[in-house]
Amino acid sequence: MGLQEVGLEAVIPLRHEVLRPGLPVETCYFEGDDAETTRHFAWVEGGRVVSIATVMEVGRDFDGQTVPYQLRGMATDPTSTGQGIGSSFLQALHEAVNESWWCNAREVAVRFYERNGLVVVGEPFEIPEIGTHYVMRTQKTAGS
Ligand SMILES: CC(C)(COP(=O)(O)OP(=O)(O)OC[C@H]1O[C@@H](n2cnc3c(N)ncnc32)[C@H](O)[C@@H]1OP(=O)(O)O)[C@@H](O)C(=O)NCCC(=O)NCCS
Repeated sequence: MGLQEVGLEAVIPLRHEVLRPGLPVETCYFEGDDAETTRHFAWVEGGRVVSIATVMEVGRDFDGQTVPYQLRGMATDPTSTGQGIGSSFLQALHEAVNESWWCNAREVAVRFYERNGLVVVGEPFEIPEIGTHYVMRTQKTAGS
């Protein structure tokens, strides 16, 4: 049980079910998924993928400081949400990647990310057909 680095195809079923329900499976493939620097991760319990996330080397400038990675496509199997799996996964991911990152967080997930050390930057914005999002980033530390 725990964090595993996986291939792209391992994250597609949960991306589809949770993040693009009812949409064609092609919509589950993101630009940059195949990039050499992109890493796909799963939280596995009893041989089953119960949560997924992807880390892409997409830097973003925040007040002159570049945050080098973007977290994308985070989702927990609906039968397993609310049990702390996403939090354990995110903490383990942070140790594995060991770099600061940012993400476009769905409004419903903002509190989840805040509890796991990210902060909202700026105003909300809309992603068509998906809804309101906030840019979030890992908190600055004295050394970063
Ligand atoms: C957000 C998500 C990845 C969290 O994973 P998880 O395994 O449920 O995480 P935890 O159990 O550690 O934490 C649950 C927290 O997520 C929040 N949450 C967001 N969407 C939720 C959902 N569909 N079901 C249950 N909890 C959800 C809960 O409010 C809870 O926060 P709280 O404890 O502050 O109330 C997961 O709920 C999910 O896949 N949601 C739908 C897809 C999504 O919004 N992904 C993020 C895209 S930016």
